[in-house]
Amino acid sequence: MAEQMVAKIVLDKKREGRALGSAEIRDFISGFTHGEIPDYQMSALAMAICCKGMTERETADLTDAMMRSGAYLSWDDLPVPTADKHSTGGVGDKLSLVIQPLAAACGVAVPSLTGRGLGLTGGTADKLETIPGYSCSLAIDDFRRVVTNVGVSMAVQTDEICPADKKLYALRDVTGTVASIPLITASILSKKLAEGAGTLVFDVKCGKGAFMKTPDEAKALANSLVAGAKAAGRRAAALVTRMDAPLGRCIGNANEVAEAIEMLECRSEGAELRSASLEVSVELAALMVSLARGIGLDEARNECNEKLADGSALAKFRAMVEAHGGDLGRFAALRRKPTFKFAIQAMRSGYIGAIDAEKVARTALLLGAGREKAGDRIDPLAGVTLTVGVGDRITTGQQLATLERSADPDGLESCAAQLLAAFAITSERPDTESLIMERIN
Ligand code: URA
Repeated sequence: MAEQMVAKIVLDKKREGRALGSAEIRDFISGFTHGEIPDYQMSALAMAICCKGMTERETADLTDAMMRSGAYLSWDDLPVPTADKHSTGGVGDKLSLVIQPLAAACGVAVPSLTGRGLGLTGGTADKLETIPGYSCSLAIDDFRRVVTNVGVSMAVQTDEICPADKKLYALRDVTGTVASIPLITASILSKKLAEGAGTLVFDVKCGKGAFMKTPDEAKALANSLVAGAKAAGRRAAALVTRMDAPLGRCIGNANEVAEAIEMLECRSEGAELRSASLEVSVELAALMVSLARGIGLDEARNECNEKLADGSALAKFRAMVEAHGGDLGRFAALRRKPTFKFAIQAMRSGYIGAIDAEKVARTALLLGAGREKAGDRIDPLAGVTLTVGVGDRITTGQQLATLERSADPDGLESCAAQLLAAFAITSERPDTESLIMERIN
């Protein structure tokens, strides 16, 4: 009861737009985590933060309190520096599968705790678990062992990490309090800080297929994440990257893993479509390497390009898969399994002016590649493969994309109609810009 009275004072203060003290924030989050402060008071605070905001210092305190609500790791015993990359989530975003092993190949250990997908953007864990045998659910000791022995591990957050975020996110989801930069920052950052990596690099996606729709919103979040990470004593940087069209050519789960492997193998097939994704991957990996090892960005970028070209990044990926129990031979066999496929064609000639990432993501979700609600089963082979990219010249009847799923051929035609609406065909060639909009250090 005493906690609830104190909580009311904190609520009054934030409602009036005043800054909360570090101890007030810490005690509120601790009380909420341990069930002494009820959900309705936490929801009220979340709403007050949405309306009145938080200073950088308050956001850092909130992040710290959430990080300390559970277990957090330290890698001080490793002989190499540590780094991780976080993406705010994009359609077809399989770049973690390339970036994390690439940074590891450059001598940086990468402890990467990732999430499962919900809604329109897929989760890295779901993609990795389409590799037969690959387990993302490692106990903390096993995660430690893989990072130490291989140099990179990609696993899911266990319930021991940031329990306050899990509880708070469930409330934010149903109380209209997701859209707040301080709350988003504390949520993302507390989980990343708990991993213990010394360097954090953020890929803040911006556009139709992203959480942040406008450059101003994306930049505000990127600045807030970088400031928060630095306040916690980590080295940090961010890229704001375009997310209007899907990243690369595959949107799904197993097909995205296969595309990431092609990127790591530097195979030329579909190189045009992939080159933009590769540019972003190398840039993010280079930021990780440059900050973690204290070397210049140009030197780090050159090293990343070398480690891609000589197969070292691919070797790291393979070693990580093996350490997690995965079997790439069985993955190749899975990819050869018969599926139901449907192709869509262009209704007229012209240029691909745009491919609406959100519409493509909705189609992939409908096909069974994603989850509408937590716990839904995913079809690992479901998804969309684009055969053209923005700026391509096309003729009437030319194939634009294929849709695929393991079962239920009857649903495919309606999914196809939806996917067709994602393509804008123009008579003029559209300007194509680099995916990288801004770098924030
Ligand atoms: N992702 C998170 O982990 N938390 C948020 O609040 C928003 C996106």
